[in-house]
Amino acid sequence: MKYMIDFKEKIAEEINKVLEISKEELETYIEIPKDTKMGDYALPCFKLAKQMKKSPVMIAEEIKSKIEMPNEYISKIETVNGFLNIFVNNELLIQDLLKQMEEQKEKYGSSNKGNGKNIVIDYSSPNIAKPFHIGHLRTTIIGRALYNMYKFLGYNSIGINHLGDWGTQFGKLIEGYKRFGNEYDLEENPIDKLTEIYVRINELCKEDESVLEDCRNNFKKLEDGEEYCTKIWQKFKDVSLKEFQRIYDILNIHFDYNTGESFYTDKMPEVIEILRKNNKLVESQGAEIVDLEYAKMPPLMVIKSNGSTSYATRDLAAILYRARTFDFEKCIYVVAYEQNLHFKQVFEVAKYLDLDEKYLKGLIHVPFGMVRLRTGKMSTREGTLIKLEDLLNEAISRAKTIIEEKNENLEGKDDIAKKVGIGAVIFNDLSNNIIKDEVFDWDIMLNFQGETGPYIQYMYVRTKSILDKENYIMHKEDVDIKELEEHGLELVKQIYMFNSVIEQAVEKNEPSIISRYLIEIAKLYSSFYNDNKIIVEDEKIKKSRLCLTYMVGNVLKIGAGLLGMEMPDRM
Ligand code: ARG
Repeated sequence: MKYMIDFKEKIAEEINKVLEISKEELETYIEIPKDTKMGDYALPCFKLAKQMKKSPVMIAEEIKSKIEMPNEYISKIETVNGFLNIFVNNELLIQDLLKQMEEQKEKYGSSNKGNGKNIVIDYSSPNIAKPFHIGHLRTTIIGRALYNMYKFLGYNSIGINHLGDWGTQFGKLIEGYKRFGNEYDLEENPIDKLTEIYVRINELCKEDESVLEDCRNNFKKLEDGEEYCTKIWQKFKDVSLKEFQRIYDILNIHFDYNTGESFYTDKMPEVIEILRKNNKLVESQGAEIVDLEYAKMPPLMVIKSNGSTSYATRDLAAILYRARTFDFEKCIYVVAYEQNLHFKQVFEVAKYLDLDEKYLKGLIHVPFGMVRLRTGKMSTREGTLIKLEDLLNEAISRAKTIIEEKNENLEGKDDIAKKVGIGAVIFNDLSNNIIKDEVFDWDIMLNFQGETGPYIQYMYVRTKSILDKENYIMHKEDVDIKELEEHGLELVKQIYMFNSVIEQAVEKNEPSIISRYLIEIAKLYSSFYNDNKIIVEDEKIKKSRLCLTYMVGNVLKIGAGLLGMEMPDRM
């Protein structure tokens, strides 16, 4: 399936007929101008000046004079300062859009470009017995968006929750539990209690070297699968997962695999063996490391001086395992930028695992910025640590208050408040380049008029209520193409771009490309709606405007769905 007409390709074909430059090369030069007055596409002819030994102005004139105008795909060509500005055949574009929209409906914008290739996405990945913090919220939301986006383009997304459930700290926690466990009931607020136990045992370790020794032994036993330690560790894991699950339920998050770090315990010896065979392990103060000085990085710790493995060793084992099990095209790590160095090191050392080059190329760290809270507002009494579940619930209750103010008798308020509140959190998270720090401010993110999730939802609900009132069902034959060309052209062209917008977002692993696009669509529709009555006498015009309304609502819903947001039917 080729998705819609590829106007860029068609333009390149036309130019290729009159120039001796390959279609493929021309395609790389053709741009989409920022200002639509400059055409739908433009060819900056200075890119051809050197090989054609002519000035850009002359080249532009030459091409223009040689291409027959108008033709099937191009309606007009203009030359400005060595630029060739190309206007496409709008009628054809609109026809093509309507055809595609009617065929694909709620799948509009999707394709099978990915051809079933496997994309592993490692996201969320909180640490058991520790709080699920706001940074984990970001990776969870971004990871899920990427998951949906890839899938929509025909890739096979594989979502992995790489839980932090292994490491020497569990030796300590087990020791703490042995000593003080009976003082705590882990059925309620287990994470707080485990944190407390952890603090207490650490203090004890500082006072008494032999306690530290016990902790080390516990972890050794855990690694050897000893029954008692395993049982307690499993308990920590179970109670933590139960806590995390509540957050995943609110956000509606699923994983294909919950294979955390512990999953790789029996897979690390092979990694160590391969590195040793390749002469990459060097001894350093009792530890075994891979020296990365040549790459201007600190060494990567593979085996610690106490004989235990590290976070990085488990990541290496995971790479080996994922390459073999999933034959991945990409393996994407959605992890905060604080771990930039970790991933650079791990990806560097992965070169010595005897893996096929294609897997090394597919390893991608997608870093994101911190969340900055407006101080004072969301911190708990004790300090700045906010519980994520509380935060999500606060979003819902704030949304409810706003909805009630606007429309007290709204049916199904609770469900709507949930969609709006959570939608606001999700959209806020994805509305800027993810590498940027995110500012968390209730008033901004819940503003129905701002560039927010609720604004997108509000515009969608508006389209829906118009369509419902008219019982509209799209039939492309009912549409007056001239009417759309005259009044809705900008909007139509944006809607037409949807698939390529998703492609760009996937290529850059940047969901904000989609969220910015949705804002653009919503704003354009808002001004269309202000300028044009939808329900008019003229049946043909009415149907055309309803169709445009349908297309807008459809794209908003699909796009928001890719980001992980749900649309209310009313609000
Ligand atoms: N558990 C880690 C943390 O909370 C994130 C793990 C990310 N994934 C990975 N394969 N290293 O910081």
